Amino acid sequence: IFEFHKIPSPNFATVWRGRMEHAHDIQFPVIVKPAREDGSIGIPFSAYVESIKELMTRIDELHAEFDTPVLVEEYIEGREIYVGVLGNKKAEALPPIELDLSKLPEGTPRIAGTEVKWERSTEAYKHTHPKVADDLDEKTVQLLQETALAAYQALGLRDYARIDFRLDKKKRPFVLEVNPNPYLLSTAELSLSFKHTGRNYTDLIGEIVKAAAERYGLTIQ
Ligand SMILES: Nc1ncnc2c1ncn2[C@@H]1O[C@H](COP(=O)(O)OP(=O)(O)O)[C@@H](O)[C@H]1O
Ligand SMILES: [Mg+2]
Repeated sequence: IFEFHKIPSPNFATVWRGRMEHAHDIQFPVIVKPAREDGSIGIPFSAYVESIKELMTRIDELHAEFDTPVLVEEYIEGREIYVGVLGNKKAEALPPIELDLSKLPEGTPRIAGTEVKWERSTEAYKHTHPKVADDLDEKTVQLLQETALAAYQALGLRDYARIDFRLDKKKRPFVLEVNPNPYLLSTAELSLSFKHTGRNYTDLIGEIVKAAAERYGLTIQ
């Protein structure tokens, strides 16, 4: 779908029980993930792979643990940026948020893997928190927001979503993932970004409810 809409995303291959389903001509390093999971489940630091041996091992491990194809993606080195989208007919892209992975312990790959998201006792968890990426230049912000809206529309999403990117060395945005139901708690990325536009958390929830209600021709008092 993204290729059809000319939305950049990493080159990839998918493998399922020894059969290759699809493959671009991809280069190492790669990241190896379960194709149908979420919340970095099945993406520990060992998901980042630089050799055939590591790749084979990781594919085997994922096949043993998950009942889904394995997605092998070219690894995009660069800043990790999230863009929230709100609304339907006049969807609005919110200010970009960055998950700064530069403070991860030395020797660990710069990925928001299982450790970063869930293992509270690790240094990886303690040193990674999302914040507004207010140092990005205007052109890059615009490109990120346009691409986020294009991805939202290409996949027919509704009401709200969060589009996750990596910016490569030339500041080109690659879509890593589209979240049709991202975390909505008040400290999560979408809320942080919304609050940066001068509105509050109650307004955010109101906007989402309003967008959904409008699709059914309802008006909210
Ligand atoms: N192609 C990629 N290049 C660089 N980093 C990646 C890539 N794919 C995933 N990652 C890293 O792994 C994290 C989790 O991957 P993601 O595809 O978002 O899975 P999940 O659905 O579990 O969140 C990303 O936030 C990012 O840090
Ligand atoms: Mg993700």
